[in-house]
Amino acid sequence: MTTPDSQPEIGLTDNDPTPLQDGAAAKDAAARNPNESSRSSTGFDTLIGKIVVERGLVTQDELQQCTHVARSRTQAHGVPVSISELLVENEYVTKRQLDRLRTDLEAVRSTQQIPGYQIIRKLGAGAMATVFLAKQLSLDRFVAIKVLPKKFSSNQTFIDRFYREGRAAAKLNDANIVGALDVGQAGEHHYFVMEFVDGDTLHDRILERKRLPEREAIQIIRQVASALKHAHDMGFVHRDIKPKNIMLTKAGVAKLADLGLARALSDREAAEAEAGRAFGTPYYISPEQIRGAVEIGPPADIYGLGATFYHMLTGRVPFDGTTPSQVMHKHLKVTATPPDHVNPSLSEPVALIVEMMLRKEARDRYQSAAELLVDLDCAAAGRNPEYARPAVDIAKLASDTAPTGEEATAIRRVGEPVSGTVITLIVILCVSVLLNLVLIAVQAI
Ligand SMILES: Nc1ncnc2c1ncn2[C@@H]1O[C@H](COP(=O)(O)OP(=O)(O)OP(=O)(O)O)[C@@H](O)[C@H]1O
Ligand SMILES: [Mg+2]
Repeated sequence: MTTPDSQPEIGLTDNDPTPLQDGAAAKDAAARNPNESSRSSTGFDTLIGKIVVERGLVTQDELQQCTHVARSRTQAHGVPVSISELLVENEYVTKRQLDRLRTDLEAVRSTQQIPGYQIIRKLGAGAMATVFLAKQLSLDRFVAIKVLPKKFSSNQTFIDRFYREGRAAAKLNDANIVGALDVGQAGEHHYFVMEFVDGDTLHDRILERKRLPEREAIQIIRQVASALKHAHDMGFVHRDIKPKNIMLTKAGVAKLADLGLARALSDREAAEAEAGRAFGTPYYISPEQIRGAVEIGPPADIYGLGATFYHMLTGRVPFDGTTPSQVMHKHLKVTATPPDHVNPSLSEPVALIVEMMLRKEARDRYQSAAELLVDLDCAAAGRNPEYARPAVDIAKLASDTAPTGEEATAIRRVGEPVSGTVITLIVILCVSVLLNLVLIAVQAI
């Protein structure tokens, strides 16, 4: 990640206030008034041309050639042909790259309209938003501004939730939570201003190192669990815990991002927004969120954190697949390979903790981040955890033997109060042993 002092990345010197148009809109406009359209698409084209050369996608000569062809075709046919179209036609850039540039430029322009902030450069982009580094002029400090795409502007429910959650998130105050500073609207874009974290995401760190040493992983998870404890105590459930939402400062502090934001959309809407995007695979979502449960509580975040912990320790996600639905199916039905089978150097307490965090049923997981913190401290001190216990598949045992045929699905922890089914089984067993003894005794007489 670059530092705040580095040069602006895109379109920051462009003060042209002309709104950008997409290809279809530009053509429609051209049909109505060719001169007008050609003027506005030229502004966009000039910027795109500059950026693709800056990024080394195209040489200056290739750009000039496209510019030349665009001009001659425009003159020959009377309909404006854009340089962008020619860049794609000549396969210098893909349509996807061009769309991404267009979105970035739109977002940059909208942030330039936010009074009191000066945009510096793009920090990153996710499935639903672009994040910029900016200077808050009044306080002379760096902040990060998340700009949502225009398409969300028409969804009033989304906007209401976005502002409500943003305001609520601003009340959270914790060293391990990325601070929420402001929400607002610039042109057609809604934005969220937050504390700037100078560092990487945990996702970047996993990509770079594949596996993290157990001690380091515990330290990071502990900080996020502490952030969750605070958020849960204040009535928040994050619902989108994953390595990309955990930022790591250069000093080694972990900060949970997107609190309140993740849930401006429902789980289903978020999953739909992510569908079809290579980086949107739901590797960390809890089974109850997949099922669309109405009540989503702290154990859902514990599951997401468990999947993140698993990934850090083993170098792979608990459930992989070629499609999002395959991955989601495994979250619901498949038990993950125990982490210490993937990485035999892991300690038993840590493996137990991860398994407990990944239990399918919310009631079988840690019920609070406070419980998880207790166990993480035990593991860090080399002691056995207090809450996590090996899972015994009582359900399978019961369905194999119970005469009622009742389907038992829960995986119970050893050491929990013994259930009614188990007591019934024990009584049946004792009675049958007793009867056998009596029979043997009678035969002997
Ligand atoms: N407060 C922040 N300070 C510094 N960089 C940030 C901050 N918030 C986000 N970023 C950067 O912006 C990128 C995009 O963030 P965003 O939340 O939009 O998407 P994401 O969480 O990476 O992915 P997804 O689309 O899966 O949610 C992050 O990966 C991170 O690199
Ligand atoms: Mg994020």
